[in-house]
Amino acid sequence: MKLIRTPHYQELSMKAAAIIIKTIQTNPTAVLGLATGSTPTGTYERLIKDHVENGTSYKDIRTINLDEYVGLPTEDINSYRSFMERKLFSAIDINPKNTYLPNGNAVDIQDECARYDQLIQSIGGIDLQLLGIGENGHIGFNEPGTPFTETTHVVELTHNTRKANARFFKNIKDVPTQAITMGIKNILESKAILLLASGENKAEAMARLLTSHKTTESFPASSLFQHQNVTVIADEAALSLVDDSKRSAF
Ligand code: F6R
Repeated sequence: MKLIRTPHYQELSMKAAAIIIKTIQTNPTAVLGLATGSTPTGTYERLIKDHVENGTSYKDIRTINLDEYVGLPTEDINSYRSFMERKLFSAIDINPKNTYLPNGNAVDIQDECARYDQLIQSIGGIDLQLLGIGENGHIGFNEPGTPFTETTHVVELTHNTRKANARFFKNIKDVPTQAITMGIKNILESKAILLLASGENKAEAMARLLTSHKTTESFPASSLFQHQNVTVIADEAALSLVDDSKRSAF
């Protein structure tokens, strides 16, 4: 696990975008695993700026997102599909047919999970998976206690995760109770992983990730210790509780 420290969110976003752009330049048909939420939005802004100013093309890039709420209409402002359209897809030259998210409105959501696993395989696996981290260490919507062997599955969202996401909705009652998420097994099968953490609310999770080195299902991000190519980019606020004397492997 490689750690890149940045003074603030803006630089975190620049560094993350630079890694993604390099991946695209090296492999113009790359499969990018993408995330939603507050953390990657600055990175997406940088990718758009680079696309406009430098012409980096997404013509043959495929994207596959980590997760989607169950039961929100696609056009709902809070669906992850509409988030991705607004924050990235509509501003770059990606072919909409090459952008994949789970279908949270599938008639049979279990079948949808199996379909998503097959889709990941059929597009050749994920070259670079972008991740945020939950305050409880979740990655994707893999909440504490999720077996690391899980592939795409339906999750009941915890009260804390719904509370954290309620900021985007009018009322916490409007936050869906279920989501479809790639499993930790899918995430670990990606060729490279880029985890971003910004802000004081992530400081406890980052302290645990960077100093404990214990792989445990009660802290999903610790599954990343099992992967050989993980880069973490974190800003000072997210690193504020990290005791450097205990930070062994970085
Ligand atoms: C989003 C996702 C989640 C978020 C995490 C952090 O697709 O999978 O794991 O990355 O909840 O969210 P933010 O960035 O809003 O703090």
